[in-house]
Amino acid sequence: MTQVQNPPVTGSTTAGRYVGQAIDRVDGVVKTTGGAKFAAEIPYANLAHAALAHSTVSRGRITAVDTADAEAVDGVISVITHLNAVAMQPPPKVSPVDIDSLASGTTVNYLNTDEVSWNGQPIAVVVADTLEAAREAAALVTATYDVQPSTVDFAAEAPNAEPQPSSLILPAGGSKGDAEAALAAAPVSVDLRFTTPMHHHNAIEPHATTAAWDGDRLTVHEAAQNVSWIRKHLAHKFSVPPEGVRVLAPFVGGGFGGKGNVWAGTIITALAARMTGRPVRMLLTREGVYRTVGARTPSIQRVALGARADGHLTSLIHTSVTQMGKVGGLPEAVTSQSKYLYAADNILLKQDVVKLDQISNTAMRAPGEAIGTYAVEVAIDELATKLGMDPIALRMLNEPETDPLHGKKFSHRLLREVYARGAERFGWADRAPHAGATRDGKWLVGTGVATAYHPSFQLRANVVVRVSVDGEVLVRCGFHEMGMGGATAQAQIAADALGVPFESVRVEYGDSRLPLAPGAGGSAQTASVAASLLAACEKLKKSVLDLAKKSAESPLRGQRLADLRARDGGLFHGGGGETYAAVLARAGVPSVDAAIGSETKLGELTGNLKFFSKFLMDRRRWVKAACGAQFCEVRVDSDTGEVRVSRWLGVFDVGTVVNAKTATSQLKGGIVMGIGAALSEETLVDPRSGRIMNPSLAEYHLPVHADVPRIDVEYLGEPDPTMPLGLLGIGEVGITGVAGAIANAVHHATGKRVRDLPITLDKLL
Ligand code: MOS
Repeated sequence: MTQVQNPPVTGSTTAGRYVGQAIDRVDGVVKTTGGAKFAAEIPYANLAHAALAHSTVSRGRITAVDTADAEAVDGVISVITHLNAVAMQPPPKVSPVDIDSLASGTTVNYLNTDEVSWNGQPIAVVVADTLEAAREAAALVTATYDVQPSTVDFAAEAPNAEPQPSSLILPAGGSKGDAEAALAAAPVSVDLRFTTPMHHHNAIEPHATTAAWDGDRLTVHEAAQNVSWIRKHLAHKFSVPPEGVRVLAPFVGGGFGGKGNVWAGTIITALAARMTGRPVRMLLTREGVYRTVGARTPSIQRVALGARADGHLTSLIHTSVTQMGKVGGLPEAVTSQSKYLYAADNILLKQDVVKLDQISNTAMRAPGEAIGTYAVEVAIDELATKLGMDPIALRMLNEPETDPLHGKKFSHRLLREVYARGAERFGWADRAPHAGATRDGKWLVGTGVATAYHPSFQLRANVVVRVSVDGEVLVRCGFHEMGMGGATAQAQIAADALGVPFESVRVEYGDSRLPLAPGAGGSAQTASVAASLLAACEKLKKSVLDLAKKSAESPLRGQRLADLRARDGGLFHGGGGETYAAVLARAGVPSVDAAIGSETKLGELTGNLKFFSKFLMDRRRWVKAACGAQFCEVRVDSDTGEVRVSRWLGVFDVGTVVNAKTATSQLKGGIVMGIGAALSEETLVDPRSGRIMNPSLAEYHLPVHADVPRIDVEYLGEPDPTMPLGLLGIGEVGITGVAGAIANAVHHATGKRVRDLPITLDKLL
C-alpha cells in the first residue's frame, strides 16, 4: 500500500508562509463528500441521453445504415447519422506555437461524412429519454460498408516510416559528429531494439459531455483539460460566436493528456442537443473512450551506445518509429530526453512516423519521455554491465556540463545530487555487483535505477486577481484541475504574494468565461499561471497603494511599493501600514481588480508577455528541465516469472515545490502509472481489423493497490533561477524512468533483459 506521508525537503526552497507547505487541497472536502458535480452529473430539466454506434471497419465508405431497430426502442427521440446530421464546419486549424498543437486534433468530419477512417469511428448517435434506452438502441444500429484496403498494423508498417514533422514545441531529431562510425569503432558497445505498446490514459472519470443550446448560445459541461480550446473549436464547428459558447470543467477525474483535445463525443453531443432542441448528456462507456479518444502511440526504438573501456561515451544513437492517424495526431518526441542526458562525443537522434488507418494518437503523460527514457536507460544499464561498471558511476562519468548537442547551458541540473541522495537513502552501495546473486526463497531479488527527465515549459495565461473590502481575495483564471492540486497551489502563491491568510483566497478555474488559460499540459500549468498571477498581485498592490495615497490619513502616504512588505492582509513598513480592507473601506471602494492579459480581445491568450518573452528568449540560452533518479527493488518468482515491485524511491529535482502534499501525490501517481507501463499495460490492436481488442479495465491491466509498494518520494526543492517562482513542473517527470528502473532491476534479479514492454511473465520464463 502506498503510504501517505510528507517527504523530507532537502536543500533550500522558495518557502513563503504557504508556498512549500503541505496544505490540504481546497477541493478535497467537496470531492470526498460527494458535493462535486462532474460533467455527467449536471442536472438539467428535460435532459436527454446520447450513445454512440461505432464503425466495425477501418477504412471505407458507409453504403447503408439501418436505424429502424434503434428507432423502435422505447424512449428513443432521434437517431442521427451522416444522412440526417446538420452540416458543421470542418475542424479548425491549430496554431503551431500553441499548446493546442501538442494535442493536435483530427481532420474527421464527425457524422458529416460517409467516410470511415478507423475501426470504432462514430457512425451514429442515438438520443433517448434514458441512458439505458440510448445505449440499447445504439447497439442495434448496423451499417454496411464499401470496405477499402487499410493499413492498421504498426509493427508491419514500421519499415515504411517517414521523417517526423517538426514543430516549434517539438523539434525532431538532431546530430553531432558521425555517431555510426564512432559506434563501429568503439571498443565496447551495445546496439539494441526496444518496443513499447499502445497505452490508454484510463482516467477514472470516462469522457463525458452535457450540452445545452439557447438559440446560438451553447453551454457545455465537459470532462476537459482545455476549456478555451474546446470553446474555440465548438464555436467554429457550429458557426456561432465564441462569446456565446461556455465550457465548464470545474471538476475532472483525471486527464493525463486524454482530455486535452476535442474528441467525437463532445462535438456529437453538441450536435445532438442542437438537433433535438433538448439538453443532451453523453457519458462514454469505458469501451467508448477506447474507440473515440486517442492513446499513446506504440514505439519501436533503437538505442546504440559506444564507449571507451573507461566508460566514456563516444557514440549515442537513439531512433524511434511511432504512429499517427492518417486523420491526425501527435508526432511523439521519443528521443527528446536523449538530447540532454549524456555527454557523448557523437550523437544521432531520429524520429520517424507511420500514419495508419487508426484514430489519431494523442499526448499521454510525458509523451516522448515516458517511453523514451525506458529505452535509453535500459541501454545505459546494459552498457554498464558490459563494461563491468556500476550503472550510476557510468551515468555520472558521462554527465554533461552543457547541452551535449548545442552547448546551451542548463538553467538547473541537479542530476548528480539526486543520484547521490537516492543512492545514500536507498542503500545502493550494498548492491550485489552481479545479476542473479540475491535469492529469498523462491524469489529472485534485484535492484535497478534509471534517470527521470522532463522538459520545463511556460505558456501564456491571463489572470485577474481581486481584493475586496472584506479582505477576501479572488483569483480568476480558466486553468484546469484534474486532481493535481492546481487551485490549491495558486491560492498558496496568491496568499504569499499579497500577504493574506490562505483561507481568505478563493480561486475560480475550469470555466471558459474566466480569463483564458492554456490547456493543462506539458507540466506547464502551475508555472504558466503563477507567472501571470505574481504579476497581477504586484499590479494589485500598486493599485491599492495608489488608492491609499489619495487619502491624507493613510500611513502609506509617501511610501514606495518596493519598500513595503505584503503581510497581515495589507502593506506594511517598519513604522506601520494598513490592510487592503482598510484602504478600500476608507475610499468607499468595494473591490480592486488587477488583470494580466485579460483585457485583450476575447479568444486571445496574451498572459504575462514580459515573463513569456523572457521565457522564449531564455530557451535560446538555457535548457530547462525537471529530472530525477528512480530507484527500485523487484522480486521475481523463480517458478512463474511473476514480477513484484517491492520498494521504490524517487528523488527529484523539480525546482520549487509549491505544495509538498499535492506534489508528492503527483510524483507518486506518475510512478504508479510507470509501474503499469513496465509490467502490465498494453492496448492490443487486432492486426487484421485494426480494432482495439481489450477496451475495458478487465482486460487492460492497470496496477491495483496490491501491485504498488510503499513509494518514497523526495525532492531537492532548489528553485530554478529562470522559471516563474523557480518552478520546473511536476506533472510528468514522475512517470519517466520508471519502466527503465524496473527493467534494470528485473535484469539484476534474473540476468534476463526484456526489451519489449510490458515485462510479463511469459517473457521471463
Ligand atoms: Mo499532458 S500528456 O501534458 O496532459
